[in-house]
Amino acid sequence: MIQPIKTFDAYQEAYTKSVNDPAQFWGEVAENFDWKSPWGKVFSGDFSQAESKWFEGATLNITENCLDRHLAERGNKLAMIWEPNDPKERFVRYTFRELHEQVSKFGNVLRAQGVGKGDRVCIYMPMIPELMVAVLACARIGAVHSVVFAGFAAHSIADRINDSGCKLVVTADALYRGAKQIPCKAVIDEALLSCSTVEKVIVYERAQWPVEMVVGRDIWWHEAMASASTHCEPEVMQAEDMLFILYTSGSTGKPKGVVHTCGGYMVYTAYSFANVFQPKESDVYWCTADIGWITGHSYLIYGPLLNGTTTLVFEGVPTYPDPGRFWQVCDKHAVNIFYTAPTAIRSLMAAGEDHVLSYSLDKLRVLGSVGEPINEEAWHWYNIHVGKERCPLTDTWWQTETGGIMIAALAGVSPLKPSFAGYPLPGIQPVLLNQSGEEIAENEQEGYLAIKFPWPSMIRTTYGDHERCRLTYFDTYKGYYFTGDGAKRDTNGMYKIIGRVDDVINVSGHRFGTAEIENAINQNTHIAESAVVGYPHDIKGQGIYAFVVCKDKVFDPVNLRGEINETVTAQIGKIAKPDKIQIVSALPKTRSGKIMRRILRKVAEGDVSNLGDTSTLLDPLVVEEIVAGKL
Ligand code: WT7
Repeated sequence: MIQPIKTFDAYQEAYTKSVNDPAQFWGEVAENFDWKSPWGKVFSGDFSQAESKWFEGATLNITENCLDRHLAERGNKLAMIWEPNDPKERFVRYTFRELHEQVSKFGNVLRAQGVGKGDRVCIYMPMIPELMVAVLACARIGAVHSVVFAGFAAHSIADRINDSGCKLVVTADALYRGAKQIPCKAVIDEALLSCSTVEKVIVYERAQWPVEMVVGRDIWWHEAMASASTHCEPEVMQAEDMLFILYTSGSTGKPKGVVHTCGGYMVYTAYSFANVFQPKESDVYWCTADIGWITGHSYLIYGPLLNGTTTLVFEGVPTYPDPGRFWQVCDKHAVNIFYTAPTAIRSLMAAGEDHVLSYSLDKLRVLGSVGEPINEEAWHWYNIHVGKERCPLTDTWWQTETGGIMIAALAGVSPLKPSFAGYPLPGIQPVLLNQSGEEIAENEQEGYLAIKFPWPSMIRTTYGDHERCRLTYFDTYKGYYFTGDGAKRDTNGMYKIIGRVDDVINVSGHRFGTAEIENAINQNTHIAESAVVGYPHDIKGQGIYAFVVCKDKVFDPVNLRGEINETVTAQIGKIAKPDKIQIVSALPKTRSGKIMRRILRKVAEGDVSNLGDTSTLLDPLVVEEIVAGKL
């Protein structure tokens, strides 16, 4: 088991060692796991080719490290607590032994359906224990899980299933989210109309929602599990075998399948979890992220289980049945470590302090934040009202592609500074680059955030298109991994993340490419073209502002906006619906036809006093019209 760093001196010592001798450093960290056979070389690779291999030659199964190896000492300890959407419904708890049993059974169910090592499995499920079981069962048998957040529409699911050629889908009849019931199986049925690789669909009954079972294709979870054996031989995996694919948005229209592998991901998620959150043996840890995002993968499932920590899975939303729900759950399950997103904090902050004051938060010891920059106001509110100024609040910066937390305070160990992520974890070498790609050596400077040395859980490839991975992350600045974020370093070398510098917007911690939303809007038959930008939003961090040009005269703008929202909901999902839609007669373009997004961003931000140089525009009058019509 990993022994977390306990003092800032020890952190600095570990950091220096990790930079001076990375192989020795990571080799020692990796000794804390069960491997079936040892590695030859700790790491090798070439940044410029987007190649990185960790613990090559070693074999393992990550689920043995999450489950089996805890059985002797922690077999009867809780591995997972599940809290349902409705506070009146009974919660469910699984010990490590029980979780091991469920995972083994479902691993056997998958094998019985012909799923084996390397096969891709799409998981589209509510936040229920079975989602965690399905993920771990894939890992157990060496199948590659591709979890798709149960908020994406049929079209987006189909794209993801087809991109990776999934053989099987695991879903549920429907899900509960706040006051709503939302179908899942029906959405999968629609998606599968355009997917030819899927042979079987396993359906968990969560909400007694009517579903149509396709004979020969669809199987009920409970029927298949009834006769499954509780012994499931773990597949022997190479350290560099694929563990999962997770789709994320970038600056182009098509989401990319970020690939993580077994060995490096295991070592880094466990190491970062232990050091950032400093869990104690008896702790209850709660990460509020959905398993459909990377935070849910790394710090709801793998990180905590690898450390033998009890992890809480919550099905609901922060505001149902009222904005005290998070605090009520903390109180009910005596949560010690709480990890959430700034957007949730801001929305609960808006609901007032009374909700927080109604519950006991005495057990809380560590607070975390993730997903987007946390503004000072939210930081202080979280620190004062939730942490009662006695819980270290760690702001954790990382990405789907980094696999694990890169820059963050180690709770109770590192100094804290509101709205700063702080110092890099041992093994992580961030730099700030200027426009020409040169490293900025001084502090008190801003630049592009890049990483100059490989780390175990870094992205290995984008599924099916390695060149895309190389071009997106390793080509802009040669010899560096480019994050797409801008950052600033203070006099003490602490990092503050400013936000994206590319065409990615971050809405409530969810990432979208502007091109991706534009593609969806353009599916609407009335739309000729569109341009989407982000703008500051009090609760969501960023909101989505769409400028649209219609093919024909618009008679009813309200109706048109409604239709565009429907189109986006059908193409991507409700989460990508624009907050504002401005109908314009043309977009500001240069003579070469490039949309001048800089101008649109300024308009969306409400800052039209200085639009900069507009002389290169094809038709400068367009700008006046857009400014006059701003929402
Ligand atoms: C982007 C990655 C990593 C899990 C959740 C999002 C932004 C993430 C922070 C933070 C400022 C942050 C960045 C990053 N981001 N955490 N603590 N402070 N910004 O994962 O969907 O891959 O998005 O989220 O812009 O590049 P993701």
